Amino acid sequence: MERSIRVLRVGQRYVRDDRTLTHLCLVSRALGAEAIYLEDAEKDVTGTLADVNRTWGGDFQVILGSPWRKVLKEAREEGRAVVHLTMYGIPIQEKAAELRNLEKVLVVVGGPKVPGRVYHESDFNVSVTSQPHSEIAALAIVLHEMQGGEELKRTFQKSRLRILPSARGKRVVET
Ligand SMILES: C[S@@+](CC[C@H](N)C(=O)[O-])C[C@H]1O[C@@H](n2cnc3c(N)ncnc32)[C@H](O)[C@@H]1O
Repeated sequence: MERSIRVLRVGQRYVRDDRTLTHLCLVSRALGAEAIYLEDAEKDVTGTLADVNRTWGGDFQVILGSPWRKVLKEAREEGRAVVHLTMYGIPIQEKAAELRNLEKVLVVVGGPKVPGRVYHESDFNVSVTSQPHSEIAALAIVLHEMQGGEELKRTFQKSRLRILPSARGKRVVET
């Protein structure tokens, strides 16, 4: 099954944390998502990801400035299931099988404060342990569970460099 996974980051910090946003982008790209929506970020974040695409391939998109309400509305209109990650949700191990059957998904991760409407408007509220931790870690685990490990075998088209995995050292070739 050809899956389409998009990620939405909801909620701002008082001081914008571009390092966290960059890591959310990198994890989304590496683990099989096609795009991430960020409400607000420095252009540096999009620049970094454009460089990563140029060097390592693929066409992962960073979409800035879309209000979360609009992204949720569009997801519903195109039949995309909304999976919100929250420590208050149902454990991922109880939902993984169901999530693996979804073709189009919007995974929503929060910042420090997530509006109540996100909980009510999501099709699934899912937790990765019922303990507080990081949105980056939660996202990685849910993307992995949702794709049953298939995302680890993915190749990225049109890269400039490609890694030859090796037990020791670094082997990189130009493509
Ligand atoms: C700093 S946490 C804020 C915690 C927030 N009170 C909550 O609802 O989970 C930022 C984001 O990390 C994610 N997160 C944190 N702990 C999680 C967990 N145990 N399971 C799933 N997602 C989690 C959620 O997306 C959350 O919005």
